[in-house]
Amino acid sequence: MATLPIVQYEEKILETVEANPVVVVIGETGSGKSTQLSQMLLRRGFSKIAVTQPRRVAAVTVARRVAQELDVRLGEEVGYAIRFEDRTSPTTRIKYLTDGVLLRESLANPELNEYDVIILDEAHERSLNTDILMGLMKRLVKLRSSNLKVLITSATLDGDKVSKFFADCPVLSIPGKLYPVEILYSKERPPNYLESCLKTALDIHTREPEGDILIFMTGQDDIEKLVSKLEDKVRALEEGSCMDAIIFPLHGSLPPELQVRVFSPPPPNCRRIIVATNIAETSLTVDGVVYVIDSGYVKQRQYNPSSGMYSLDVVQISKVQANQRAGRAGRTRPGKCYRLYPSRLFQDEFLDVTVPEIQRSSLAGSVLYLKSLDLPDIDILKFDFLDPPSSESLQDALKQLYLIDAIDENGAITSIGRKMAELPLEPSLSRTLIEANNYGCITEALTVAAMLSAETALLPGQRQSKIEKKRKHPMPNLPDGSGLGDHIQLLQIYECWDRNDYDIGWCKDNGLQVRGMLFVRDVRKQLSQIMQKIAKGPLDIRAHGNGDEFRRDYRNLRKALCVGYANQLAERKMHHNGYRTLNFQAQVVQVHPSSVLTADDLGKFPDYVVYHELVATPKPFMRNVCSVDMRWTTTVMNKLKTLDVYKLSGGINHAEEESERSLPDLPKKDVQVAGAVNDSESRIQAARERFLARKANK
Ligand code: CDP
Ligand code: MG
Repeated sequence: MATLPIVQYEEKILETVEANPVVVVIGETGSGKSTQLSQMLLRRGFSKIAVTQPRRVAAVTVARRVAQELDVRLGEEVGYAIRFEDRTSPTTRIKYLTDGVLLRESLANPELNEYDVIILDEAHERSLNTDILMGLMKRLVKLRSSNLKVLITSATLDGDKVSKFFADCPVLSIPGKLYPVEILYSKERPPNYLESCLKTALDIHTREPEGDILIFMTGQDDIEKLVSKLEDKVRALEEGSCMDAIIFPLHGSLPPELQVRVFSPPPPNCRRIIVATNIAETSLTVDGVVYVIDSGYVKQRQYNPSSGMYSLDVVQISKVQANQRAGRAGRTRPGKCYRLYPSRLFQDEFLDVTVPEIQRSSLAGSVLYLKSLDLPDIDILKFDFLDPPSSESLQDALKQLYLIDAIDENGAITSIGRKMAELPLEPSLSRTLIEANNYGCITEALTVAAMLSAETALLPGQRQSKIEKKRKHPMPNLPDGSGLGDHIQLLQIYECWDRNDYDIGWCKDNGLQVRGMLFVRDVRKQLSQIMQKIAKGPLDIRAHGNGDEFRRDYRNLRKALCVGYANQLAERKMHHNGYRTLNFQAQVVQVHPSSVLTADDLGKFPDYVVYHELVATPKPFMRNVCSVDMRWTTTVMNKLKTLDVYKLSGGINHAEEESERSLPDLPKKDVQVAGAVNDSESRIQAARERFLARKANK
């Protein structure tokens, strides 16, 4: 292996680290930050080094690589930990972990005493958890000034900004050895970027000298389509007319054995064509790339705090991202980057930098962590963020937490909230589990939570991709949720598998992803262990499908879901099969077509449902829906009436509180929220009246 640029700076880096509690290291992608820094620090005698990665795939592949370089077994001196998978041991000295896992560790051990070095790697990705960790590290270095070193590393990050954030800490820039990359722009945006990628790749393959091609696409579906088209075309090329080619997909949901494949050297006289998501932009480096094709797009999940709605949008990348992509072509020799967009568009329309995730995510989970850390004087609305989220999205998080009893009306964390924070789940599912334990249906709730947490699609047709459909899974005889909805169907499917002794063949026969189902089983086991710890005693876990007196209609489970999804309730509009959400901004939504929830004999959908997710695709749909009973919703309705979001932030000072109480009207800036409350109040009132009227009619 040629020596990596960073290795030449070992002395300088270590000296700086020894003299300073926080150091920022900036270096080109591929310069060796992720794989080498930890090893240098280990050589220097530090005893345990944590390296965070925003992406699970990166944590796993980098750990594997470092274990190889040190010639040790993965999971011993070098290990990794990602959600639901821990491959470390007491002997582990370099631990790669996702930023989410480190955040979670800081709950159990706020000082993170186990580590004497913490590296926040890939900070330029600006993931939500890394941003929060940066805020926490700022406190931690003061607390542990004598025995903790923090390194923030990044390929492109604005070093001065981070340095300022950490009291003007030093910034080390590792000069990268980048060869010139020729940038070729398209005249126009192609009408079909997939076809355009295909054509460009084939042109390069048939005309240009050797060197691998890296293509940046937006997501798994498009990657699979392009891979299959490329395979067909390459096969159709006349033998001997050009060199051979192998095509690799590269994205986050690829099975691990396929992920590592791209890192092994290609056969001689063979060109590799790698079709990747933005994962190959900075977190993974594949050597040998000389040609880059940049579609100019990325798929980004955005959360809209005013509607509680997620959208997965294909958006234009930022200039920083475009330059990162181009840089991948010049690592080993001069390269070429084909930008499938005009230069004018790049100049005038591309954002300079990517919007940090903290400004486009739901913050309920993060706010719950921060609240449960018991930091003194913490006013969530004023937490020290590198780039603060909007107050609207913080308020949205506080409201949700209040509705599910995680914080009280003054914003203080409750005992329920503390328990919830221990579960590595979204707040809605943690809340459901805790409630289910009181209702004697924890067995079922664990299954539902595990099924929903599996990252891979389990059911055939769940991902609406044409390729999937073409594979023609035999239409399976799977349960249908008994008319109650998707959560119940997921439960029933797992119960069936359980009755079939977790048989792999059964999964295959029914078109279920074997890997996904095995993962669910493992996740379920882990969740049940955490729940046991939280409940401080054995859980009321029974064998699946036994003994619940309310089993016929899954009443208790649905009741627990109704509590957990208190902020995700929807009411059917009169005489319609459309729904209106009951959170602050009433949204008109539909049940997603993939749902198994069905209309009754009269063609009507249930009056009240909870949903796992609101998605705009592009119309607003509720995904994973479960029917609930109006009577279970009254507690939430009452809470919605009394909610005061300013008290919830938990940092309000008493003078303000007093003046607010004595004022008949809220100050100007509060008017909007107050209006929203009133609006929802009137809806709640109307709902109650309808309910009472119906009851009187019975
Ligand atoms: O973090 P940074 O982008 O600075 O670089 P790195 O991930 O430490 O990668 C340094 C070198 O190790 C690159 O040349 C990669 O190709 C190589 N590497 C690899 O071959 N296999 C991996 N799983 C990770 C890195
Ligand atoms: Mg890296």
